[in-house]
Amino acid sequence: MEPFGVRSRAERGQRLTELPVPALRELVRTHRLVLLRGYEVPAEAEQLAAWCRQWGEVMSWPFGDVLELREAQDPTDHIFDCSSVPFHWDGMYKPFVPEFQVFHCLRAPGPEDGGATTFCDTVRLLDEADPGLLDRWRRVTVTYRIGQVVHYGGKAVSPLLVEHPVSGAPTLRFNAPPPEEEPDFLNRPAHEFAGVGAEDVPELLAGLRAALTDPRWSLAHAWQDGDVVLADNHALLHGRERFRSRAPRHLRRVHLLGDPAHANPALG
Ligand SMILES: [Fe+2]
Repeated sequence: MEPFGVRSRAERGQRLTELPVPALRELVRTHRLVLLRGYEVPAEAEQLAAWCRQWGEVMSWPFGDVLELREAQDPTDHIFDCSSVPFHWDGMYKPFVPEFQVFHCLRAPGPEDGGATTFCDTVRLLDEADPGLLDRWRRVTVTYRIGQVVHYGGKAVSPLLVEHPVSGAPTLRFNAPPPEEEPDFLNRPAHEFAGVGAEDVPELLAGLRAALTDPRWSLAHAWQDGDVVLADNHALLHGRERFRSRAPRHLRRVHLLGDPAHANPALG
């Protein structure tokens, strides 16, 4: 895939659960994103979770092992709204940060509905970033606070640049502020910056925004029914494009912990 990731198309009738997990794990570690298209995927959430347990330890949430990602009737958090979701990494407010995400698309939005999942390969971004920019980013630490209205929330403190817990490569950890064009964004996080003067924050944010959406290392995955996406949560940041309210969009997501599980350094 361009600019990163690999795609595998199923032969007719081929099952997801027949694929060798160790080979998939190596593919995600190498390419950071794996798209499996056309495979037969278990229809029940519990069956998907059972397959995921072959990978290792599944991260449990208050709702269980499988998040059903759908627009809610009356959402209280942007996750369950149809708004965009800014770039972030999963588990940033939790005791452990999952190594991988497994997404299964049960129902994809129509081609005009929006709702792509966005991914940025921050290892490549940092590899090719301007050295002056890197120097400035290296000094910055961000404190995030968000209300616990659904299954996550609290406070996290993270430098912008953090080592990948498995490969040791530098990664960018950043939860981008919601765009100002979306004043109705539900449950806005608050940001506090250290290592950069208050007067320089707007420039810092503009630089980050430009870097994170650079097509050389960033992509928007338009879902098709049945797609399974495996992603490296430590190397990538991800988000969502806005979609038409009430458009069909149903994803399942499971988090896989590393071995050993990665204790969240942002909780201090
Ligand atoms: Fe997420």
